[in-house]
Parts: sequence; structure tokens; C-alpha cells
Amino acid sequence: MEPILEVSRLSISFTQYDRGVHQRRLPVIRDLSLTIAPGQVAAVVGSSGSGKSLLAHAILGILPYNAHLEGQLRYRGAPLTPRRMEALRGHEIVLVPQNAGYLDPLMKVGPQIRKGRRDKAARSRSLGVLARYGLGPETEDLYPFELSGGMARRVLISTAVAESPRLVIADEPTPGLDARAAGRILGHFREIADGGAGVLLITHDLELALTIADRVAVFYAGETVEEAAAADFARLERLRHPYTRALWHALPQNGFQSIPGGQPYPGAQPPGCAFAPRCPDARPECGGAVPWRPFQGGMVRCLYPKGGTAV
Ligand SMILES: Nc1ncnc2c1ncn2[C@@H]1O[C@H](COP(=O)(O)OP(=O)(O)OP(=O)(O)O)[C@@H](O)[C@H]1O
Ligand SMILES: [Mg+2]
Repeated sequence: MEPILEVSRLSISFTQYDRGVHQRRLPVIRDLSLTIAPGQVAAVVGSSGSGKSLLAHAILGILPYNAHLEGQLRYRGAPLTPRRMEALRGHEIVLVPQNAGYLDPLMKVGPQIRKGRRDKAARSRSLGVLARYGLGPETEDLYPFELSGGMARRVLISTAVAESPRLVIADEPTPGLDARAAGRILGHFREIADGGAGVLLITHDLELALTIADRVAVFYAGETVEEAAAADFARLERLRHPYTRALWHALPQNGFQSIPGGQPYPGAQPPGCAFAPRCPDARPECGGAVPWRPFQGGMVRCLYPKGGTAV
């Protein structure tokens, strides 16, 4: 089946000025590739600052003006040009933003969901979508400041999916929700995918991602270090990259074990593998080039991967 979205070799850097004179490029995402097929939930999992929101904003064409983008984005088989994106954004391709500040504070919920439409069909659709997320018809008449955090989340999702999108990009859609509410919302994303759309679920929460994802891409310091089937996470031996293995050990059911150290900041990455300084298996060669490559039924960026599923 033709992919809905193909991201190939995406790199993003920011232009910064030191003391107003010297210009420098701060790389934040490097050599990132990702594909989403119709009916699939692809999760991108990484800790804070790893570049997840920037990936979402790059796909939607809403990066800040000082961002520089390299690589290719394709949507349903053709390049996703800024013009094409403009036409698709908010209808076929939608973002569930990380921050409820994306709601218009001066507009009631109903009109925001209907995006300016006033006809009867639009009204019944917006009521339907609110009901689907457990919100009553009275919600339409509320302003964003009248919503609780959990309600605002559900309104954001309603606004995004009201027009049956083909690609949903959900950036950390469940913060601040209890496990049951989060599970319910993720269940809706699974349904949207089962209806034929592609879903890109961005989160720092691997445990939550695994409840609905088909595939998982693991981010570390602006790079994908592994792409694996969600099923691979059932067994440690199948995981390919040492960072993915560390995430596995940190899952509650595997004892919450964390590893020392932290992710390097943009511009402060070591040469070669960014994880090498924390890696139990690092060798001197890890300071050189480490390509992104297929390995045993998945993809990995490691010179000495383990595991995998293929024989
Ligand atoms: N406009 C900008 N100018 C310079 N650097 C930026 C800009 N926007 C983001 N960054 C940097 O890019 C890196 C990635 O940011 P991003 O928001 O994508 O992280 P994230 O993975 O979404 O984190 P979180 O989980 O906290 O949402 C961060 O180090 C951030 O400081
Ligand atoms: Mg983010």
C-alpha cells in the first residue's frame, strides 16, 4: 500500500547569532527518516528536547522563520510542497498540538471546531465529535478559559479530527490526564487509524505508546536510533539499540531502572553516536560515522546492534 507520509533524511537546524554578529547553525534534527502507511499508528518516542515537536511542525510546515530544513517530505506519493501543505493543513493533515494555547482564546468552542462553517451538517458534526470525546452540547458555548485542562485536551482533539483527516499528528496528546482518560483518548486514535488514516503519535511515554502503536521510532538527541515493530518491545532480546534497551528497562513492568547521564543539548552532541557517552557497549569506533540502516526486521543507528526479529 502506498504510504501516507514519507519523511526522508530530514535535518533541521536553527540560525543563531552570537553577540549579534557571528551567525551559527544549531543542528536539532539530523538525518531522520520515517514512513506511515494508511491504517497505521506510528509512535515517535523520545525524552524532552529530542526534537519531537519540531518533527511535527516540519511536517505541518509551521517551523519558525529561523529554521532551516533539509530532506524530503512526501504525502500520498507526491512531494509535500509548502503550497500543497497549505491546502491540506487543518483538513486532510491535522495537528493535535502539545499546547492548549493553540485554541483561540476569544472564540467559543463550537465555532472553533466548525472552522467558520455555519450550516446544519457542520453543527451536527461538531456535536457528534464532542460527544465522542465525552463532552456535552453545552461545551460548544464555552470559551477556552472556561475549560478544565482535560476538557481543553479533548476539545483540541475534537477540533483536529472533526473533518475526517487522512493523517493525524498528535503531539503529546495526553499530558495531565489520568491513566484511564489517557487510555480512552489513545483508543480514539487507534480507531481513527483503523478507519484508514495514518496516525503519528508523539510522546515521551513508551508505555502509553505501546498500547496502540504498530511501529515505534525511538528518538535520541535529534536522531532516530531505532525503528521497531511495537511487538518487539515484548522481549528485550529483540531490541536493537542500547538506548531502546535502556528505555525498556525503565518501563514500570521491567523495574523502572534508569541509566546515569542525560541527553546532550543541541550543538553539544559528541561526534559519531550521540548515545556513546552513556552506552555500556561503546567502543572507540562509535565516535566515527554511524549510519542509519536496516537490521533484522527493523532499522537501527548503531555499529554493534543486537536483537531483531528476522532470521
Ligand atoms: N525556535 C527555536 N530556536 C532554537 N532552538 C529551538 C527552537 N525550537 C526548538 N528548539 C530546540 O530544539 C530542540 C528540540 O525541541 P522540541 O520542542 O522538538 O523537543 P521535544 O522533543 O518536543 O521536547 P518535549 O518533550 O519537551 O516537548 C530543543 O533543544 C529546543 O531547545
Ligand atoms: Mg514537544
